[in-house]
Amino acid sequence: MNTKDNKDTFIELLQSTGREGVNYVIEDLAKLGFFDAPASAGHHLNTAGGLVQHSLNVYKCAMMLRDQMDILSPGIKSECPDDSVIIASLLHDVCKSDIYKRTTRQRKNALGTWEPSEGYKCSYKDFPIGHGEKSVIMLLCSGLDMTDAEMIAIRWHMGAWEIPFQSIETQKNQDAAYEQYSLCTLIHAADLLAARLMEKSANDAEDF
Ligand SMILES: [Fe+2]
Ligand SMILES: [Fe+2]
Repeated sequence: MNTKDNKDTFIELLQSTGREGVNYVIEDLAKLGFFDAPASAGHHLNTAGGLVQHSLNVYKCAMMLRDQMDILSPGIKSECPDDSVIIASLLHDVCKSDIYKRTTRQRKNALGTWEPSEGYKCSYKDFPIGHGEKSVIMLLCSGLDMTDAEMIAIRWHMGAWEIPFQSIETQKNQDAAYEQYSLCTLIHAADLLAARLMEKSANDAEDF
């Protein structure tokens, strides 16, 4: 993983949208530590720069899926224009910019001996408002101009993994989001495929 190249590509792609507020977003993400953050504490891409790598993987996956799906179901491409795919995929997880802190834990090595291991711990204390919700709110606070489809795709990118099943209203909101916006389904599918297929580590495989 080349973190410098990834950061440059991430910024170039965002700026290519010409979207109002995009440079404020880049500034705020840099201040929060987005470009050095891991994508998770203990699973996919849990190293510095992992979050940018994950965001780029979701972008690549979303573009590939959109173009292939447009062959099977013409119209998807026009419903999900390039700038919307870039905004929603690259920025869906900005909520993770400040939740991981470096820590050292005792872990057993291959010989069964305990030894210190560098890693991350996770805390939601800074702005506990929900995963997709936090990403959308952060982007709005930075001054990014987004379409409804982009905001809704970012809000619901976790799909049913994030639904409290005792809330009918939340389920109906999510149903309406997926029914109305192809971008919503596209970003959810790309996020899942990137994390599960492109970013599976040796440690993840051992966990199963
Ligand atoms: Fe996420
Ligand atoms: Fe993600």
